[in-house]
Amino acid sequence: MKPRVVVIGSFNIDMVAKAPYLPKPGETVLGGPFVMVPGGKGSNQAISASRLGAEVYFIGCVGDDLFGKIAKDNLIKEKINIDYLQMTNEIHTGVAIIMVDDKTGENMIVVAPGANMRVTEDIIDKAVEVIKDSDIILIQFEIPIETIEYIVKKVKTYDKPKLIINPAPARKVDLKFWEGIYLITPNRRELELISGVRLESMEDLERTAKELINLGVKNVVVTLGKDGALVVNEMKTKHVPSFKTEVVDTTGAGDAFNGGLAVALAEGKDLISAVYFANAVAGLKVKKLGASSMPYREEVERFLENYEKR
Ligand code: RIB
Repeated sequence: MKPRVVVIGSFNIDMVAKAPYLPKPGETVLGGPFVMVPGGKGSNQAISASRLGAEVYFIGCVGDDLFGKIAKDNLIKEKINIDYLQMTNEIHTGVAIIMVDDKTGENMIVVAPGANMRVTEDIIDKAVEVIKDSDIILIQFEIPIETIEYIVKKVKTYDKPKLIINPAPARKVDLKFWEGIYLITPNRRELELISGVRLESMEDLERTAKELINLGVKNVVVTLGKDGALVVNEMKTKHVPSFKTEVVDTTGAGDAFNGGLAVALAEGKDLISAVYFANAVAGLKVKKLGASSMPYREEVERFLENYEKR
């Protein structure tokens, strides 16, 4: 039986333009090519998990408009269950404006969340049986924080599912929020924003992650892009290096990682092996343009096999 991953999160239409370099405020840069593709951290992570072989439910909200229809069609195409995807005629589907640096693959993103801010407690209540019976619940910070707090409280009363929070984009939350969460996956910048501490060295990262462990988070995985990931919990701190691949677009690399991590943990892998697997998923994602260009399971298996043979 496939493990079940429930993603509660955002859908955006991504308007992506490549540019020779990222503009400064007030500057116009001639760039291209341009693509319009499905995105949103929630939807990207759901696609990543589905392509890696999990049974995936996507719980979210889109506008009753053209982009909302694209969302539905795309999620169905990706074999993701959308029984709990709400449509609203009160506001537009989420949109993200993304610029990608041609040389480095790095990006700048502005999100107009629209309908994503209508992911409310009643949508969660409708899906409660599916949530209760999942192996992993995966949430990001692109939906209302009140709804996330509501989910966190509920999940603590369930035995089965493990909760992974990818706090992106980062927001300051009450310190009590972190208590009892199984795993959080901030990147370096997000860890800075949620902790209020400037992070310069690996020691800073480890110390700050440990503070979150002291607040009750069970595991912290700090994603470090080309430098891999740092795993911190009560027992250990371990750096897991990334796989070096050709970089075309880093947008969605974190989402690829989180989808991979969710599937690997849902399948029963230990945390370090799950991070190793997730690094491979992210390494394969960055080779392609577009946030939702996630690798399939076979590609990841083949990549790891070849890598391990070297
Ligand atoms: O993580 C990448 C995603 O962030 C993009 O797809 C964009 O929609 C924003 O949500």
